[in-house]
Amino acid sequence: GANPENLPPNVPDWSRYLGEGVDARPYGVPSEYEAHVVRRNVAWLTASTESSVNFTPLHEIDGILTPNGLCFERHHSGIAEIDPADHRLMINGLVDKPLIFTMEDIMRFPRTNKVYFLECAANTGMEWRGAQLNGCQFTHGMVHCVMYTGVPLRLILEEAGLKTNAKWIMPEGGDAAGMNRSVPLEKALDDCLVAFKMNGEALRPEQGYPLRLVVPGWEGNMWVKWLRRIEVGDQPWHTREETSKYTDLMEDGRSRRFTWYMDCKSVITNPSPQAPLLHKGHNILTGLAWSGRGTVERVDVTLDGGKNWRTARIDGLSLDKAVHRFYFEFDWNGEPLLLQSRAVDSTGYVQPTKDELRAVRGTNSIYHNNGIQTWHVQQNGEVENVEIS
Ligand code: MTE
Ligand code: CO
Repeated sequence: GANPENLPPNVPDWSRYLGEGVDARPYGVPSEYEAHVVRRNVAWLTASTESSVNFTPLHEIDGILTPNGLCFERHHSGIAEIDPADHRLMINGLVDKPLIFTMEDIMRFPRTNKVYFLECAANTGMEWRGAQLNGCQFTHGMVHCVMYTGVPLRLILEEAGLKTNAKWIMPEGGDAAGMNRSVPLEKALDDCLVAFKMNGEALRPEQGYPLRLVVPGWEGNMWVKWLRRIEVGDQPWHTREETSKYTDLMEDGRSRRFTWYMDCKSVITNPSPQAPLLHKGHNILTGLAWSGRGTVERVDVTLDGGKNWRTARIDGLSLDKAVHRFYFEFDWNGEPLLLQSRAVDSTGYVQPTKDELRAVRGTNSIYHNNGIQTWHVQQNGEVENVEIS
């Protein structure tokens, strides 16, 4: 609660004394009163923190850009600590001349700035068999959206010269996992970036410093961090991450493979279990929507579990393969609510219900769950993760 000494008509503490000088915070950090705004781990999800994930606090942020220090982290072998002077990017395989680049070399290519979301294919994966985690941070927090500065991968591949039979690339990370994936050459030449800055500053170590691959609209696993090598080949490598992992096991025992696109999805971030309703009357509902296939054209919201849908207001920039911010202002009379959002992307694709998704994909997979999320607002304003059919 508030300290009455600081409230009118008194002069508050901070108006009586000089504040800290300009040398106190050479690289700024948030106010101490924002200490609760942090990435969080779900301890029982993984056996160790080195091969694990933490989640973006979606209910605490606004706009479309994720602050660098709040971008969720997913590591297979912890955070590689790389001295950029010792870092190299090697291009080998079906190229005319194999090359090894220093960071300085990379910085001499023409660069571009693009805002893209990154979503882990396992985002919302714990919800396939029913409502489980209580908070949008945990159900939907494996997504972030930042502005990358980087070199189009096409320019780097062209420098090495592609052989005519080149069809695939295999980016590989410099972490202990040496994480790698097969990416079709068509995508590599289209819009992939070799990025070194996020939101204007150097990549954070957690996000792949000094170099990461950006694979717009496609599952986060392909965005190789600590990028050290790209092999060019004529067929996919069938690595661990595209066979045993990141395939979708269907009811009949077959697997969907190479399911790269992150389909259109949305979530209401406020209210949500970590952000209850605090008062009756006027309230602001807000959330995020995104599509790996383009922009988000429309977001509809319902307060009554789908009986009535109203179009939300998308505010701010609408950028290709970036998150979109939506708002819906409403009056709350204290009755229980069932909140949902449903996004439609620029291809006309409509975000499915969880039941629609399960009818096609079953419940064996932990990947690519883009179903409509339901929040139950109780009379006391508390919010819980539920499902309705
Ligand atoms: N790259 C390397 N080298 N090692 C990794 O563990 N994790 C992948 C991908 N790139 C990973 C990696 C996964 S599964 C995801 S979802 C994204 O990085 C997460 O990126 P972030 O940590 O910047 O959020
Ligand atoms: Co992932």
